[in-house]
Amino acid sequence: MDAPLASTSKPHLPDAQTVTQVTHWTDNLFSFRVSRPKSLRFRSGEFVMIGLMGDNGKPLLRAYSIASPSWDEELEFYSIKVPDGPLTSKLQHIQPGDEIILRPKPVGTLVHDALLPGKRVWFLATGTGLAPFASLMRDPETYEKNEQVIMMHTCRTVAELEYGRQLVESLKDDPLIGEMVAGKLLYYPTTTREDFHHMGRVTDNLSSGKVFADLNLPPIDPATDRAMVCGSLAFNIDVKAILEGFGLREGANSDPKEYVVEKAFVGDGI
Ligand code: FAD
Ligand code: A2P
Repeated sequence: MDAPLASTSKPHLPDAQTVTQVTHWTDNLFSFRVSRPKSLRFRSGEFVMIGLMGDNGKPLLRAYSIASPSWDEELEFYSIKVPDGPLTSKLQHIQPGDEIILRPKPVGTLVHDALLPGKRVWFLATGTGLAPFASLMRDPETYEKNEQVIMMHTCRTVAELEYGRQLVESLKDDPLIGEMVAGKLLYYPTTTREDFHHMGRVTDNLSSGKVFADLNLPPIDPATDRAMVCGSLAFNIDVKAILEGFGLREGANSDPKEYVVEKAFVGDGI
């Protein structure tokens, strides 16, 4: 079958979902919303495979964290635009009414089930690694299970933080979780290559203790603190070393512990 990319023509793509909204944040970042398969149940923080029909007539799929919470009627995704990327060079042009492919098999480790109960959870992200936390920050379970939630997000520039900033801002007025979030969610965005009121890598701000001082929090303690990490492989490796230095151990769905990690993308030949 000769199915054009992001086609609105019939017949439908396999596992097709319809794009309802697209927002471009920078030249390199956009978010979009699609219809949700009625049967799809997922845990906030999980990812699915999405994509478009390739020129060869085969689905071109990539892993994407679901950025919307599990209660949302639609699904939201937050995406990079890789100029020569097989998928995103095309996906960045989708419009409302277009179709994408979505395999309804959610998986992942950035879920509350993979952490032991604690008092405080740290969400640590760079770039599009914010996506799973965009879901978790909008999930009531996050606030039911933790007294405090700290979202550290670092990008090179201020513009790259904007999707996350608007999302956090919108939570205050959210009818479902607005009250739960108040006073519990501490947002700590930083840049590394443009002036901003808070700067520096997540790793440096944890190692130096600057984030604890700025937020008036005690240092990370395995008795009370939990962490979820999502960024490049290099970021994840460096953060893991710091968290283990604080005494946290890596958990999994089958073996909950004090922190969990997921790659935001596969790159650098890995
Ligand atoms: P690819 O051939 O897949 O990638 C080309 C190169 O671009 C990579 O080698 C890497 O260097 C770089 N790259 C790819 N993705 C990113 C990224 N997100 N940030 C910075 N550099 C990148 N991507 C998202 O945009 N949003 C998500 O929510 C998301 N969730 C993911 C969850 C998991 C578990 C994994 C493994 C990956 C996730 N990705 C996400 C990455 C995604 O699967 C694709 O790599 C991305 O959409 C680019 O696809 P592509 O075919 O255009 O280029
Ligand atoms: P920096 O500007 O100092 O490299 P990128 O755009 O390269 O994916 O990086 C996104 C953000 O993650 C940047 O602010 C970058 O900081 C930061 N970063 C990259 N690698 C690491 C790492 N190993 N540890 C901590 N932060 C990192």
